[in-house]
Amino acid sequence: MSKKIEFLDLGQQPLANYYLNKSQKKKKERKYRLIVCFDNQNKLVSIKKTFSSKMMFNNKYPYRSSMSKTMQRSFKELAKHIKLKINPKKILEIGSNDGSFLKNFNKSMSVGIEPCANVEKITKKKKFNTIPKYWNTKLARDILKKYGYFDLIYSANTISHIKNLNDVFSSIDLVLSKTGIFIIEDPSLIECLKRNTYDQFYNEHIYVFSYLSLRNILKKYNLEIYKIENLDIHGGSNRYFIKRMKNKIKIEKSVIKQKRKEMKYGLNKKNTYYKFRKRVEESKKRLVSIFNYCKSKNKKIIGYGATAKSTTILNYCNINDQTIDYFIDTTKDKQNKYTPGTKIKIKKYKGGINKDVDYVFLGAWNFKKEIFKKEKKYIKRGGKFIIHTPLPRII
Ligand code: TMP
Repeated sequence: MSKKIEFLDLGQQPLANYYLNKSQKKKKERKYRLIVCFDNQNKLVSIKKTFSSKMMFNNKYPYRSSMSKTMQRSFKELAKHIKLKINPKKILEIGSNDGSFLKNFNKSMSVGIEPCANVEKITKKKKFNTIPKYWNTKLARDILKKYGYFDLIYSANTISHIKNLNDVFSSIDLVLSKTGIFIIEDPSLIECLKRNTYDQFYNEHIYVFSYLSLRNILKKYNLEIYKIENLDIHGGSNRYFIKRMKNKIKIEKSVIKQKRKEMKYGLNKKNTYYKFRKRVEESKKRLVSIFNYCKSKNKKIIGYGATAKSTTILNYCNINDQTIDYFIDTTKDKQNKYTPGTKIKIKKYKGGINKDVDYVFLGAWNFKKEIFKKEKKYIKRGGKFIIHTPLPRII
């Protein structure tokens, strides 16, 4: 019997990517209780309360994968690998965002699905075949009629955003050619637990996958994972290479290694999740005391990267515009708005950090390397960062 265990309560939260304009800032926001569950039977970790795709992914979606050099580089390298090792004739990307992955391929061989029309338009402008719709069986049937089967399907940070996983995978099953390869990339559960990055949980991340849970879902559709790459992207992600069971490609050692790692860490046991809860509660206490310390010394704190992830942290730890003066962010659609729930102003990144800033809370901690490289001047003059992972600290 499937039994969902609620193991983490991250309190009242707003929709994570719902940045507020001036008039919205004055109104009462819609909030929900962010509770995270572990299914003892299929080993899947998910959030309890979910919202419709239409509410979360619409023509106001602010996220652009092209905003980070790290992401661009990662897509480019993967495209190179795909061309060399898989050599597909037709590629489908589910959740193609602003085309950062597709742009590495020939326009005539690729199709992108992106329900957020504002970002889909960006890729279409570059003359790529993109469809502004949600991935589901109906769309899969239409695509099959129009384009035929695909020998490569790629989806990064999208499958974990779709509630109905049975519909997702049966739709993949419809359009994937007999020898086709399906590659999924999503945050890794084991890394989330090890790094105490509880901010991987927010309304859009309905699931945080492990090998153990994904394997169980794929089995239903005669699909299996034959290779896994551990990536540093988004604070620790896994790239799963999937094939049909009938396809004789060898299962690589990386799969066995991942399975062993996850079993050893205890991703199959509820106790592991209770221990994680304790660490998250400790993490909150520690982060709040760091902010209190800085404020008691009258220091100026700003935020860097108003990420969806930071929405979870700020609301869970009650850190608002009384503590953080403002955020800086390179994403146009976030600028001059306010962070959800905590109402901290987001300013345009104008190159560098102002001289009067003493501490920078790293909302985009997943791009730490890239940001530290960019902010050498700030670091050189003694500027410090506040980061919450793996333990809250000043660096
Ligand atoms: P993400 O963690 O959801 O990918 O979001 C990263 C956010 O951080 C996005 O809004 C862009 C912002 N950002 C900057 O402002 N400066 C940077 O150098 C990087 C890498 C990201």
